[in-house]
Amino acid sequence: MKNKLVLITAGPTYERIDDVRFIGNFSSGKMGFALAEEALKLGAVVTLVTGPTCLQCSAAINRVNIESAEDMYLAVTKVSDNHDIIIMSAAVADYTPKAKHNGKIKKNDDTMTIELVKTKDILKELGQRKTEKQTLVGFALESEKLVEYAKGKLERKNCNIIIANQANSPNSGFGKDVNTITIIDNKDNITEVPTASKQDIAIEILKYVAEYNELPDSHS
Ligand code: CTP
Repeated sequence: MKNKLVLITAGPTYERIDDVRFIGNFSSGKMGFALAEEALKLGAVVTLVTGPTCLQCSAAINRVNIESAEDMYLAVTKVSDNHDIIIMSAAVADYTPKAKHNGKIKKNDDTMTIELVKTKDILKELGQRKTEKQTLVGFALESEKLVEYAKGKLERKNCNIIIANQANSPNSGFGKDVNTITIIDNKDNITEVPTASKQDIAIEILKYVAEYNELPDSHS
């Protein structure tokens, strides 16, 4: 990791409905911040693009604060091309309100409908732009068929590695201090990592990324 350029995304995104309300998710940012701190300790030059969170990070990390999926897209694609390792742990909204209301929407009818449109899939775009020297790591949070769905994402988004974790488990997912992951790579390796603190999980992920290029490719 020494002097490698590492780009990490973290936290949720907030998609504005009006000036006082948003659609978000329960991501705390803890996994992404742990990855950023551990990569820094290993000597990497770290850029952390993060959605809204109360977490602090070391001053040596180049922190970019963003709010929405579109902000994250712009911040990430601006710098991604020259990065060696990109780890997308952010919980980016898949949909955003089609129209943002200026001011505060007043209460009216008994029901209300908000039209949503798809956000840009940042990981998918980076997968399309990926060069030979880049290692692209995605995350897959699933509530069922963990390995099957995560493998699908790995292929669809052209990642080198995908970190699968269970959404509805006491030992993984949003807001927890621990995580339980399965590392799946595009050489057909599947590695289960038992429950550990997000700091130790970050170390395991970075170790795997560092050794990834040396792993045998079962396709060749
Ligand atoms: N991601 C992204 N841009 C988006 C949405 C997701 O870069 N607009 C990234 C996340 O940071 C994560 C991975 O893609 O690394 C997981 O995305 P996910 O939303 O789970 O995948 P989808 O293909 O949208 O599948 P699902 O139907 O499960 O939402």
